[in-house]
Amino acid sequence: MKPSCTGNLPHHLGIIMDGNGRWTKRKGLPRGEGHERGIQRAKEVINAVRTFGIKALTLYAFSSENWQRPPAEVDLLMEFLEIFLLTEMSEFKKQDIAFQAIGDLGKLPESVRRMVVCAEKLTAACKEMVLTIAISYGGRNEIVRATRKVLAAGIKPDKINEDVFSGFLDTAGLPEPDFIIRTSGEKRISNFLIWQLAYSQFYFTNTLWPDFGTEQLIEALRCYGAQEDMEKTIEN
Ligand code: IPE
Ligand code: IPE
Ligand code: MG
Repeated sequence: MKPSCTGNLPHHLGIIMDGNGRWTKRKGLPRGEGHERGIQRAKEVINAVRTFGIKALTLYAFSSENWQRPPAEVDLLMEFLEIFLLTEMSEFKKQDIAFQAIGDLGKLPESVRRMVVCAEKLTAACKEMVLTIAISYGGRNEIVRATRKVLAAGIKPDKINEDVFSGFLDTAGLPEPDFIIRTSGEKRISNFLIWQLAYSQFYFTNTLWPDFGTEQLIEALRCYGAQEDMEKTIEN
């Protein structure tokens, strides 16, 4: 039996998954273990969000600024990402989850990029939920890339409006995120979906991402206005 959420659910949930480093520091563990546990949490949350019937989930996994981290940490994160995609893409397909990546993907190692393309192709026809992973992603960079695309498409200045411009962003086709969660106690946006979040509701929690699971997600959704409905359980 799994808990379910009903009532006022967001159409598009965005999550800034932060606090892996502090989690390991507190436990005296190597930093990589926080990221590893963070990936397990991401899997749990993806599954819960789908079960609750939310149609779009965007996870902030690696920012454009995160390239400035020590090379060993960047390499490890890229390796984890590749393994995550390799092992999860068939599960996404099984769960009818369409996967896509947003960000400056040209900066990714070739092997990760190949895995992204493979996962996108495999799940392209899936309908239950859209899972977007923001990798090498920065909102400012996205706006600059979108501007270049607008110019390259030869669109005349008087034809550019907010709707037209939105269509050139990486998130084209997704509803705007109505709810954004950030873990770890930091109360900032860190360059996440800065165009799209104009009307989003925010939820900041001190819980570190490696400790954020279904229970914490339900608590956040309750703040948004969802009702936890333990009666309406979903049999596995
Ligand atoms: C989030 O955890 C994961 C990534 C940004 C890749 P951090 O690694 O930022 O953890 P803290 O903020 O140092 O605790
Ligand atoms: C934001 O976390 C980016 C991701 C969660 C991927 P950071 O830890 O990189 O952000 P800052 O440095 O606290 O702003
Ligand atoms: Mg951080």
